[in-house]
Amino acid sequence: PSPESLARAESLIRTIPDYPEPGVLFRDITPLLADASALRDCIDALIEPFAGTFDVVAGIEARGFLLAGAAATVAGVGLIPIRKAGKLPRPAAAVSYALEYGTATIEAHDDITAGMRVLLLDDVLATGGTLAAGHELVAHLGGEVVGTAVLMELEALGGRALVPDTHSVFVA
Ligand code: PRP
Repeated sequence: PSPESLARAESLIRTIPDYPEPGVLFRDITPLLADASALRDCIDALIEPFAGTFDVVAGIEARGFLLAGAAATVAGVGLIPIRKAGKLPRPAAAVSYALEYGTATIEAHDDITAGMRVLLLDDVLATGGTLAAGHELVAHLGGEVVGTAVLMELEALGGRALVPDTHSVFVA
């Protein structure tokens, strides 16, 4: 996609102050998702650096699913959902990670198999805990993470330190 079309797509991301709690600037990608050409341009930009290198995409619940489903179809590969704890009927692996308060756990089925080349996708890179845990989860099942990619990186939160090679379509 051209820089102009990506700039247009970025302008559709809505910034909402004090959501979900005071002091947080929430990045709402729903207007971008609702726009056909912005959605397609962003999916293309998300997977472009990894063309031909992956067998499957893995998306992290919940907003990562929205991008991963579209990306899998565009790339012509399958999709693995990485879910929050307790949602999968037969999880084969789980990884816990730190949140600002407490911990969270993500799980996956053994549809990720040894040697499978996985492109890991999410909507936002903030502190990096989620994407780093996703990386660990795929590796635990024997998959090879060929890359991690997000629609938007929130640079001030420093998550790149945990997932240094992450490809970000937008940086805020
Ligand atoms: C958000 C976002 C990423 C994660 C990034 O998910 O979708 O998955 O936080 O944060 P981190 O880099 O600090 O780990 P959230 O837990 O809000 O879930 P949702 O997608 O279900 O809304």
